Amino acid sequence: MSMPSRWADNPHGYGLVSRALHWGMALMILWQLLTAIVRATAEHGALDNVLWGTHVSVGFTIWWLAILRGVWGLANLSRRPAHEGHPLMRGAATLGHVALYALLILEPTLGMLRAFFKGRELVIYGFPILVRGDAPRNAVLGSFVSEAHEFLGWSLFVLIAGHIAMALWHHLVRRDGTLRAMTHGSTAPRLRAGI
Ligand code: HEM
Repeated sequence: MSMPSRWADNPHGYGLVSRALHWGMALMILWQLLTAIVRATAEHGALDNVLWGTHVSVGFTIWWLAILRGVWGLANLSRRPAHEGHPLMRGAATLGHVALYALLILEPTLGMLRAFFKGRELVIYGFPILVRGDAPRNAVLGSFVSEAHEFLGWSLFVLIAGHIAMALWHHLVRRDGTLRAMTHGSTAPRLRAGI
């Protein structure tokens, strides 16, 4: 059964599903960055008390959306727009995207494992998934996973800053339509810059 082309990706641009997932997740990751910055700079301040309550459920949403997006990306792989530029740049772009998907799935997984090993409560969308224990299930693993979540969380934001910089470079310097393929879909002209 062939899918209507505006939903699926094609070599000229991304379809509605990929674009909704991309920009919806971009907003959630921006929100997650805000909650992390406020937590790191003003823990238990008035703003932190409001924002931190969303960190777990938004992080969990990013987790299942990233899995969905990975599956959708694989199903559309053969008809997606090809990466533009020098072969080395194309290889780096593939590597960067794989790292982004991996971190978007790993990071929330570590957040949830942190709660499990530390014996903390875990409430997602208002549902208690884990209740607080009297002691950590594994204090060593709890600390390790907690440190890894913190380090990889900030690393993810740095990687995303690089991703945004590269998208702007394609748009403003190479002018090759890469960004437009994600904003306008298949109506985007794919002009080669001849570099
Ligand atoms: C893509 C999703 C996520 C990102 C990017 C992210 C990012 C971060 C970052 C950067 C920090 C460090 C903040 C600081 O330096 O104080 C942090 C802390 C934390 N995160 Fe996440 N996180 C995500 C998902 C989750 C999930 C799903 C959970 C729980 C199920 C979670 C639970 C926590 C907890 C408990 C802390 C520690 C707070 C503290 O020590 O005060 N995170 N997160």
